[in-house]
Amino acid sequence: MIDDVHPLGAGIRLRPTTMADAASRAASLTRSRAYMKPWEPERPESFYTEEGQRERLAGLLADRAAGRVMPWVLCDGEDRAVGGFNLNAVALGPFRSATLGYWVDVAHAGRGLATAAVRLICELARDELRLHRIEAGTVLDNTASQRVLAKCGFEEFGMAPAYLHIDGEWRDHRLFQRILHDGPVTGAED
Ligand SMILES: CC(C)(COP(=O)(O)OP(=O)(O)OC[C@H]1O[C@@H](n2cnc3c(N)ncnc32)[C@H](O)[C@@H]1OP(=O)(O)O)[C@@H](O)C(=O)NCCC(=O)NCCS
Repeated sequence: MIDDVHPLGAGIRLRPTTMADAASRAASLTRSRAYMKPWEPERPESFYTEEGQRERLAGLLADRAAGRVMPWVLCDGEDRAVGGFNLNAVALGPFRSATLGYWVDVAHAGRGLATAAVRLICELARDELRLHRIEAGTVLDNTASQRVLAKCGFEEFGMAPAYLHIDGEWRDHRLFQRILHDGPVTGAED
């Protein structure tokens, strides 16, 4: 179920984000700052503080309550955040689509965690949110993220020039999507 805690192996779990994650998210993002810099928007200094993360999480959780975003945290054996995965811009009606964004703590990268989390999120998006499609975009040379998407069944469908402001510049992006199902929309309340 969407609100469950999902074990991913080696003591790592995926669960919905809560306000209690603010301090460990700030610590993880601070630790991973240089690692993530080429692939992320420029952030204000407050982003790396517990208070800044509290503000960000309050916004994310309000968006979750409104059905616009579904935020998950990757957490270690002591329930500390070591990654984040968001389905953003959730759209229903005939589109039934969302945009996926993610990061994994530098100390946990390269162990298959993003791949495991994205696979699970695709299942939850199809079975619980009843989405038809997930989209993700990466800057042209983000090979690690492109590998994650390929391993999770995403297919490239285009290139968007100057798509997002990443690491100080408007960057071209490769666009990927995964179609989750082609069946009728059932159980949807929109
Ligand atoms: C992208 C990211 C989430 C991947 O997390 P992860 O847990 O390390 O991912 P996985 O271990 O599941 O898979 C990574 C794959 O990329 C490959 N990879 C990693 N770095 C690479 C590099 N520099 N060049 C080529 N391949 C690379 C790994 O070998 C692995 O592929 P494989 O299983 O075929 O060997 C993580 O690197 C990250 O947080 N990056 C910074 C933020 C970011 O880029 N977010 C995505 C924005 S689109």
